[in-house]
Amino acid sequence: MSKVTVIGAGNVGATCVNALAFKEVADEVVVLDVKEGISEGKAIDMSQTAQLLEFDTTVVGCTNDYAKTAGSDVIVITSGIPRKPGMTREELIGVNAGIVKNVAGNALKHSPNAILVVISNPMDTMTYLALKSLGLPKNRIIGMGGALDSSRFKYYLSQALGCNANEVEGIVIGGHGDTTMIPLVRLAAYKGIRVTELLSKEKLEEVVKATMTGGATLTGLLGTSAWYAPGAAGALVVESIIHNRRKLIPCSAALEGEYGESDICIGVPVIVGKNGIEKIVDLNLNAEEKALFAKSAAAVRTTNAVLKEINVL
Ligand code: LAC
Repeated sequence: MSKVTVIGAGNVGATCVNALAFKEVADEVVVLDVKEGISEGKAIDMSQTAQLLEFDTTVVGCTNDYAKTAGSDVIVITSGIPRKPGMTREELIGVNAGIVKNVAGNALKHSPNAILVVISNPMDTMTYLALKSLGLPKNRIIGMGGALDSSRFKYYLSQALGCNANEVEGIVIGGHGDTTMIPLVRLAAYKGIRVTELLSKEKLEEVVKATMTGGATLTGLLGTSAWYAPGAAGALVVESIIHNRRKLIPCSAALEGEYGESDICIGVPVIVGKNGIEKIVDLNLNAEEKALFAKSAAAVRTTNAVLKEINVL
């Protein structure tokens, strides 16, 4: 039997549960929240769509009852506050760091072999916090950020190309921040044709900018952080783990020398399978991309340093 726990029944958590159930990724999905009744209500509501959408996954909601999450193969952490318009993801650290550390620790007590997928923001720093505070091997801690950023990159590329987004390839590496993410234009392609041959330099610059500020654009429109794509991106990572699909997904991973960095979690292309991070793929970046990556890592490190300042690490 496969079991996934999603901590946090807010917009992102609930959307992730919904995608996991609808796609029958696991036999059972447990959703836990601190707010009385929210996770139970959402779980029952989703369960009542099972006959309508024809899925067999069992969805269970619980208020802070970690015993119900016991034996999970994967734990997804979405807890914490989302950003409001005008805020950066990094500004959430003061509130979210304590929450993430606490819920991840509690969940692992009941599922000591689980793989952790971190969605809470600032995502790379929350992934690093999990790595440093939980004592898990690095393959079992994955940050979902690049999967989302890459889906936004492909969306904007498809808009510029006027084509089906499913036929576009694109990878975003680096930090999951408005100024730290790196959409890799050189490697993006439409049906094997490099987008650099199909779109002007100016158009590609617009796509890159739109991708990098994609989350902020939605926060401006919605008044809170986005949830459909973040939740679905989390479900994609979980699916690749549970079904050992070994998909190449850009994720925040602990680096030990890869891409010239160590002691950091940051977005790189990862083969995701039953052991979590099966492999970090080297993309052979050119000098310009390497410089962007080093700059992005430096910015992520600055945010990581706050963990010590606020005494959560
Ligand atoms: C976003 C948030 C979830 O990018 O980080 O929409």
